[in-house]
Amino acid sequence: MTQFARSKVELLLIGIFFVLLLVSLLLFLPPSVSGSAQLSESEEAIERGKYLVIAGGCISCHRGEDEEESFAGGLALVSDFGTFYAPNITPDMETGIGSWEAKDFLLALQHGRKPGGGFYYPAFPYRAYAGLRDEDVLDIGSYLMSLEPQRNAVSEAETPVWLNRWAMVGWNLLADISEADTETFDDELVARGAYIARNLGHCSECHTPRNAVGILDANREFAGATLGEEVIEAIDAEALSEWTTNNFDLFMLIGMKPDGEFAGGDMNDVIEHNTSKISDEDRDALAAFFTRHNQSE
Ligand code: HEC
Ligand code: HEC
Repeated sequence: MTQFARSKVELLLIGIFFVLLLVSLLLFLPPSVSGSAQLSESEEAIERGKYLVIAGGCISCHRGEDEEESFAGGLALVSDFGTFYAPNITPDMETGIGSWEAKDFLLALQHGRKPGGGFYYPAFPYRAYAGLRDEDVLDIGSYLMSLEPQRNAVSEAETPVWLNRWAMVGWNLLADISEADTETFDDELVARGAYIARNLGHCSECHTPRNAVGILDANREFAGATLGEEVIEAIDAEALSEWTTNNFDLFMLIGMKPDGEFAGGDMNDVIEHNTSKISDEDRDALAAFFTRHNQSE
């Protein structure tokens, strides 16, 4: 090889090195969120936030161990990837989120990033909440900041040695790559239902199968999954082909299936704390979304 050729190769390698360095720096930098966003103390925003927190099923994970109605956290979420503890999301200065500002809520819910730029584990379903509108996230923040602060220090996650918060850089990237284009809907009710199902209600977190590293299989949305020992039924077009919107509505309200059986396991929790408490319109929207394939028949 001539001197000239070698220096070209070297230049190329140096170039590649700097590109990789830049890419990895960009991956670690916190994403930009609206810096001018503000939390509100208005009663309206707080009421809206309270409703969104119900529709978002936050209490299923963040409830206090002793006080089930509070958001003091501490509940252990056991998964194939370790044990994660839902934090205290009351505005306590030391053990909760007392110092949080608007942008911290946007970073956490839409990007899975901590106020300092660190990473959350996806046991916090931030991939689903990523699709929430800014104003909805801010209303959620306004409501949480209006709560009575509760002191409760929650343990740090227990994960296998190979799994740490920095590994989430790669995980998030893989999850981004494997994300499918989401279809949009002209029908307003179906569109609202899709927003509740895919984002707020995070139905996919349980009902969509995952690959070996826990990333949802976007091509098999709602095709059913297993969670530890628990089998989670499919709720896709095929599985629900016999369900009418009324069947679905009733299931979301009281947990009764068309065959008269009642829901068990984790779905009980979802129905009790979440889908039975949302507005009739939003339940109709969910039903319209999940049974949309049946309408044309
Ligand atoms: C499936 C369980 C689950 C649900 C549902 C859930 N979270 Fe969480 N959340 C977690 C876990 C676990 C963490 C901590 C993740 C970690 O340790 O990296 C977390 C972290 C957070 C944090 C960061 C707190 C801190 O101190 O850093 C906030 C804020 C939060 N969640 C708010 C919400 C809101 C609002 C909702 C509902 C819209 C919600 N969560 C729904 C499990 C959940
Ligand atoms: C925390 C996990 C979890 C979440 C989140 C969840 N589900 Fe479920 N779901 C389950 C489990 C587990 C079952 C099976 C219950 C049983 O054994 O009866 C189930 C069952 C169902 C069924 C009955 C299916 C059948 O054929 O019997 C429907 C419909 C359903 N879920 C809809 C939803 C919708 C809509 C959402 C989002 C608003 C949702 N689920 C969120 C765990 C979950």
